[in-house]
Amino acid sequence: MMDLKEIDGQVQQLIRQVKDDTIQSMSQPIDVDEKTGRKDLVTTVDKRNEQSLILGLRKILPEAQILGEEGFGDQVTGTDGWTWIVDPIDGTMNFVMQQNHFAIMIALYHDGEGVLGYIFDVMNDDLYHGGPASGVFRNETKLEAPEDVPLRDSLIGISGPLLIENQFNLQDVARVSRGPRMYGSAGIEYVATINGELSGYISYLRPWDFGAGKVLAETLGLVVKSIDGTQLDMLSSTVVLVATQRASQEVIELAN
Ligand code: IPD
Ligand code: CA
Ligand code: CA
Ligand code: CA
Repeated sequence: MMDLKEIDGQVQQLIRQVKDDTIQSMSQPIDVDEKTGRKDLVTTVDKRNEQSLILGLRKILPEAQILGEEGFGDQVTGTDGWTWIVDPIDGTMNFVMQQNHFAIMIALYHDGEGVLGYIFDVMNDDLYHGGPASGVFRNETKLEAPEDVPLRDSLIGISGPLLIENQFNLQDVARVSRGPRMYGSAGIEYVATINGELSGYISYLRPWDFGAGKVLAETLGLVVKSIDGTQLDMLSSTVVLVATQRASQEVIELAN
């Protein structure tokens, strides 16, 4: 097996290539389909990106299994060994409706532990990458851990459906904060938390929505948990909280 630095270099090359392909595809008409309904879209770009990423990742680490949102990867039933998790476009609704505020995400786990994470904020041309061995970078710049701000001094990301339905008392969480924010891409909200623009983010997420963000956020000392305060199961979908230590304690208290 290649060493981690070499793997990292090759993944960065791959994700930059897929980012360039994505930008190029935006100058032409894009086919959009509904998956489960009009609020759940998939495009030809999601599918093509996933296929390109899987092809590249198989070459980089042939022994790894690959979990991808659009189903071109493997049937992953356990976390033993090496696992890639791929979200070929995170924020497909934003991609279709705004041509902005979406991300390409890749994560590498070993025996269920995060090793490398990548979130490409495509329209800002910012690649967030790294892991416990190297720290976290925005492009070439190494990032400091965000300040441990409490909820009342900060903005908090909360997904639309959870806030509208007041699930887990999240309207109280919003009231205690300086205000809720809703960006429509888990990747972009993880990045906002990593950058200290939000003290946290709460949304119902699936493994490809939180895989990369979890590696990056935990590397910077942020808390990533299920909203009930328990550890995440890497292969399950749940309401996920990423937050500063202080905000996470407050959110978990208000939510449960
Ligand atoms: C979605 C986005 C959205 C979140 C949804 C995700 P997708 O990912 O991250 O912000 O609220 O739960 O499914 O489907 O656009 O990759
Ligand atoms: Ca989707
Ligand atoms: Ca996603
Ligand atoms: Ca997606």
